[in-house]
Amino acid sequence: MTSNTTRQDAAVADKAILAGHAYSDERHLAARQSIYRWQHPRYDLPSIVTEELADITGTIADIGCGNGKFLDYLRTHRPDLNVVGLDLSAGILTRLPAPVLVADAQNLPFADHSVDAVLAMHMLYHVTDIPATIAEIARVLRPGGLLIASTNSDTDKHELDRLWSTAAGHILGLPEGPARVSLSSRFSLEKAPGYLAGSFTDIRTRHLPGTITLTDTAPITAHLASYEAWAHLSGVPFHQTVHHATDLATTVIETEGAFTITCHGGILTCRART
Ligand SMILES: C[S@@+](CC[C@H](N)C(=O)[O-])C[C@H]1O[C@@H](n2cnc3c(N)ncnc32)[C@H](O)[C@@H]1O
Repeated sequence: MTSNTTRQDAAVADKAILAGHAYSDERHLAARQSIYRWQHPRYDLPSIVTEELADITGTIADIGCGNGKFLDYLRTHRPDLNVVGLDLSAGILTRLPAPVLVADAQNLPFADHSVDAVLAMHMLYHVTDIPATIAEIARVLRPGGLLIASTNSDTDKHELDRLWSTAAGHILGLPEGPARVSLSSRFSLEKAPGYLAGSFTDIRTRHLPGTITLTDTAPITAHLASYEAWAHLSGVPFHQTVHHATDLATTVIETEGAFTITCHGGILTCRART
């Protein structure tokens, strides 16, 4: 488990960093998404979300839609729905078919009670004001409308946190270096229900635990390097640390046969008050 400094937390929600670097295109996001190919069990998140939307008709807003993983799946499997993608970053939306809009989740371009369901998948930890954004989502949802949000547990991928701080420590000549920046800790699986309870009812958390087993370091290198947008806050020479962490992971694979990462993500569903 990592714990951000106040500056790191602010940078995780810094719109210039998010739209201008972290998600200016899909490169870094795709690197983080791709590591799940080696997870067991595998979870088909777009399919799980589609099941949750079984009783929904009308308009779905996918806020922070990123490279369109959920948008693409829903448009194929639920062509009856009007699915609108929104993201802070114009760059990440470029390949996505309309309707997609550049918009901030904190100021949604929808009338009150005009949306039937909202997806906020792995994105609420990036917004500046989490309670205000949740209230904004509740404003646009019809009474009884569904919010589906996803995030990670505070314990997710702790082996990568350990790998990073060990590598950073070696580079700085310390027993342990600074923790890597955590993206999801501002709205982790543990914190999310408390935030949602302010505006929503019937809050359910579906835990999705798994184990990633790697015999090749490339996915680890890509995952660690995908935090490049926050490199200036890492407290270590970032690329040198990624390189050294890769060497350490290589040694683990050579001696133990695999590098194992424990994952704990989850999906929350809740209803707008009637
Ligand atoms: C980790 S990605 C998740 C993408 C997608 N929802 C998924 O789960 O694959 C977070 C996305 O949220 C977007 N984002 C961050 N802050 C936002 C905000 N305030 N309003 C709208 N989108 C935002 C980012 O640009 C990025 O595309």
